Amino acid sequence: RRKIIMDCDPGHDDAIAIILAAVQPKLEILAITTVSGNAEIEKTTQNALKVCDLISLHDVVVSKGASEPLVRIRETAPGIHGDSGLDGPKLPEPSRSWSEEHGVDTIIRLVKESPEPVTLLPTGPLTNIALALTKAPEIKNNIEEIVLMGGGTFGNWTPTAEFNIWADPEAAKKVFDSGIPTVVMGLDITHQALATKEVIEEVNKIDNHVAKIVGELLVFFASTYKEMFDFDGAPVHDVLTVAYCVAPELFKTKDVNIVVETKGEYTAGTTLVDLHGVTGRKVNAKFGLELDVDGFWKLMIDALKKY
Ligand code: BDR
Ligand code: CA
Repeated sequence: RRKIIMDCDPGHDDAIAIILAAVQPKLEILAITTVSGNAEIEKTTQNALKVCDLISLHDVVVSKGASEPLVRIRETAPGIHGDSGLDGPKLPEPSRSWSEEHGVDTIIRLVKESPEPVTLLPTGPLTNIALALTKAPEIKNNIEEIVLMGGGTFGNWTPTAEFNIWADPEAAKKVFDSGIPTVVMGLDITHQALATKEVIEEVNKIDNHVAKIVGELLVFFASTYKEMFDFDGAPVHDVLTVAYCVAPELFKTKDVNIVVETKGEYTAGTTLVDLHGVTGRKVNAKFGLELDVDGFWKLMIDALKKY
């Protein structure tokens, strides 16, 4: 089983990513670490714990990570995820508390302890990963791959920057420059995974409590995406990182060089995706281009039926 650490800021799509991952026989979740992003750190951590309760994931450690970006002022996304970071369904207060260990230390410890290389799945700002790589650079040697959601050839938070990268560009730069094999699920591919009305209907046909909550998450997420972007359905961005780990055949990717803009007056947080190799810079990422949309939703629906 592939060992993964989910570093996230739940967040509707982060939550659904956890729900998908937890029933994959091919995956073993070593930990869930949280970061400030869609909402403040206490909220994203409480949300992660609530999702764990929902799916009875009681044995996986949940550690609270960074509360602020490396150097910038924190900004959250209540317009997309609501004030709680996970508005929509009513989820009970968590039955347990987060770990006493800081999220960054959990990442470092588990990567060091693991007999096999670990895959990191960051689906929020990259603050924790950057801090872990700074504090313990040697963990690089035991990271198999980083499969992250972030960036793209266009933006959703500024005209050119995607939220996760924009929220902490300095951290993202550290990750992209790390030399660790990195797979990037950016907006180009995540916008292909739209939870449309038809998808939500399929989810609602599944007769279990988890599917019911996922349906409610998607309805809320779709409502804010309609309001903000006039989309018919919300893109379930973060879920693609999990799907890639279990079914890479659903993805068409391209080996490219990606650098992160940290200085631009208008363009901080932009990922420069060199699709045509014009810079001559070394390849440092597999960039998601095309998704087998039907295959992706089948994976998701099959997973929900397991609950
Ligand atoms: C990313 O930002 C957040 O709103 C989502 O959870 C996703 O990780 C999309 O830009
Ligand atoms: Ca996220």
